[in-house]
Amino acid sequence: MDTVNFVLQGDLCFCENSGVLKTLEGGFLVCRNGKSAGVFPQMPEEYASLPLINYGGKLIIPGLTDLHTHAPQYGFRALGMDLELLEWLETRAFPEEARYGDIEYARRAYSLLVEDLKKGPNTRFCFFTTIHVPAVILLMDLLEESGLVSFVGKVNMDRNCPENLREGGENNPETSLTATREWIRLCGKYQNTRPILTPRFIPSCSDGLFRGLAEIQKTYMLPLQSHLSENKNEIAWVRELCPESKNYGDAYARRDLFGGDVPTIMAHCVWSNDDEIQLLAKQGVFAAHCPQSNANLSSGIAPVRRLLDAGVPLGLGSDVAGGVHTSIFRAMADAIQISKLRRALVNQDEKPLTLEEAFYLGTAGGGAFFGRARGFGPAGSFEPGFDFDAVIINDTGLAGPEKLSLRDRLERVVYLSDDRHIESKYVRGKQVL
Ligand code: GUN
Ligand code: FE
Repeated sequence: MDTVNFVLQGDLCFCENSGVLKTLEGGFLVCRNGKSAGVFPQMPEEYASLPLINYGGKLIIPGLTDLHTHAPQYGFRALGMDLELLEWLETRAFPEEARYGDIEYARRAYSLLVEDLKKGPNTRFCFFTTIHVPAVILLMDLLEESGLVSFVGKVNMDRNCPENLREGGENNPETSLTATREWIRLCGKYQNTRPILTPRFIPSCSDGLFRGLAEIQKTYMLPLQSHLSENKNEIAWVRELCPESKNYGDAYARRDLFGGDVPTIMAHCVWSNDDEIQLLAKQGVFAAHCPQSNANLSSGIAPVRRLLDAGVPLGLGSDVAGGVHTSIFRAMADAIQISKLRRALVNQDEKPLTLEEAFYLGTAGGGAFFGRARGFGPAGSFEPGFDFDAVIINDTGLAGPEKLSLRDRLERVVYLSDDRHIESKYVRGKQVL
């Protein structure tokens, strides 16, 4: 990648890795070799010769991470929103995903998606795709060209789905495993786009498929993403399919696919009980909290405070098309709002999320997943050593009659901004917008 050194000046707002919000009006943010060299109130002598780009009066924040989203579902976002998860999968998600066997359809849909994502505040993504290797590679090519950073997963499914999405027919996991190995071999050419193993969820994969994926994971040292304890009907189904398991997380753990040494993301964790939360924490599994999807698909309100208190690594996801908005600003606002509903409706003792906490989750919280993977640094903060992802926001259109503090400007941006306010974006030190 281009290793360019430069300095940005503007109104800096970021969370340290510890979660504390830092603000610095008219501060200097130094990029060296694609990484942050830190934030300074005055231009440090040693960097005085570097090019200075002045974003005076504009907010500069770390790039946001979407820790869980489905690229092929972008095409039907904001449709079918009256359905609950399993019915929505059958009638909306699966028929749409089957279309990605047609590479021209995939090209049209994925081009629209990537063009849209370039303009927004997110710089990093963990994508589910479909079972179709040529379409997955097409998406990876488009993402690589965009300069965004992503993990992309070819989806595995060999049971409980329509014939045209079932790889190899019943009890024949080899087809899915062979396709997965083929896909992994094609992924070596990318700098910013990495493969992540993606068994859709327990109901979609036979035991043989899970066994093969665990072997592939060991051979190639690949991270993994899946879904966990999202919706009551889904959980009841998993209980039927895995009567030996203590809980849904334990079903993955018994298949040797639940974190430990391997960076792992489980989306949702809406109904995780104390045992499952302890297991997530012990195994260092990231939970991707997807508040908008959880409301749209009638899944519930995730116990985010309990996950945080237990030390589960946590980030935010759009879960498009369960969620309809791609921006992680929207996920921050939704996370705060539904955490208040949780306190009102479920447990008075669970404190709602603060703006600072939600901002942390959408930046350094999810960005930490990238720090666990080989080749990337951690992302989502401006502390020295973090990958240099920065978003420049022109919030003059959001001003009121009074001058606001940086913290309050950030809050307004989280709740009110849209892509029109995103002026520029840097990813790993490279300007992509
Ligand atoms: N569980 C299994 N597949 C999916 C999916 O595509 N979306 C959501 N929200 N949950 C799932
Ligand atoms: Fe999902």
